[in-house]
Amino acid sequence: MKYVRMPIEIESPEQMGYSTIKNNLSESSYTDTIFKNLNLNMNELVICYGDHVGHPGLRAEILKGESGNLGLDDVLVTAGAASALFIVSTSLLEAGDELVVAKPNYATNIETPKAIGASIKYLPMTFENNFQVDLNELKKLITPKTKLVSLTCPHNPTGTMISEADLKEIIKIVEASNAFLLFDETYRDMSFKFKLPIAASLSDRVISVSSLSKTYGLPGIRIGWLITQNKKLQDLFLAAKEQIFICGSVVDEEIAYRYLARRNDYFPAIKKDMLEKFEITKKWMNQQNIFEWIEPSGGVVCFPRFKKDFHFDSEKFYRILLEDYKTYVGPGHWFEESDRHFRLGFGWPTQNELLNGLKALEQAAQASLKS
Ligand SMILES: Cc1ncc(COP(=O)(O)O)c(C=O)c1O
Repeated sequence: MKYVRMPIEIESPEQMGYSTIKNNLSESSYTDTIFKNLNLNMNELVICYGDHVGHPGLRAEILKGESGNLGLDDVLVTAGAASALFIVSTSLLEAGDELVVAKPNYATNIETPKAIGASIKYLPMTFENNFQVDLNELKKLITPKTKLVSLTCPHNPTGTMISEADLKEIIKIVEASNAFLLFDETYRDMSFKFKLPIAASLSDRVISVSSLSKTYGLPGIRIGWLITQNKKLQDLFLAAKEQIFICGSVVDEEIAYRYLARRNDYFPAIKKDMLEKFEITKKWMNQQNIFEWIEPSGGVVCFPRFKKDFHFDSEKFYRILLEDYKTYVGPGHWFEESDRHFRLGFGWPTQNELLNGLKALEQAAQASLKS
């Protein structure tokens, strides 16, 4: 493995210091939860090694209400979705192995295969194609040597979604090859119009990955999971997990279990606030003429860009935005894209901070116009 730190981590708000930012529109999760508000008494918890697969109650909560024939043994609890993605990539890929991965993407989905030395074929998701997965393009990229196809839905950084019909078609394409489908559905519970089934419930050639970080605002308890019906793969993933962590944190797993058991007490307010923030962003997008976007269908982020005829100095724009307006967004280079794009996270800030941040984007853009 050849590890390289990613710009999205080096320049992340938690590394820069939250105190330098007033309007934080760079986050990819809902507002962080305050522990006190969960009202949990965990004084009796034994701080032992936990179940290697993950707290059984938590695994049951993860599957509660889901369609399909998934069982507790199909779920492996991991330290966030990030470690699930790491486990899948390092278990299935070796240097030189081929994979197809959508681009842009959440950085780890690309960086871990890169660190392994895998041979990456990018499936472009373009503004011009409404940031959709092009099925014909996907078919062209898969060869008999493809080991993994890696997609994210709802997508980070664009918030676009794949329809259920297309997901089923993609699974057929993958099943006709020698590959597995890695489906990063970390934002699945925050879908606006329709929610896809857990992709792993549709085929034993699919591995679903998700977590509590984004939709529920719980990134600090590093709880995620991967799901597959494929017993051989699940054994392999458990071996990887045991070699990295032995088991997860019993404290984190207990919090996650109790949270999910009471999700109906917490989630309606989160969803209401999220949809209001989405409407604020949409209204703003429609009433200014510097930026354009593809409207997201889920998640908490979108990936707008400066309109073509707006000639500006991008270095100056991001500097003024932060220094003068204390506003932060995720520049395109976090996703190996041009800095004309930026990721705008509308779910994390308060509604007031969001409004101020959106206004600041226009002001910083005007201040960085090229004469
Ligand atoms: C699509 C996607 N997958 C996975 C992750 C990893 O999140 P976590 O490890 O906190 O679950 C992120 C974080 O930004 C993400 O956006």
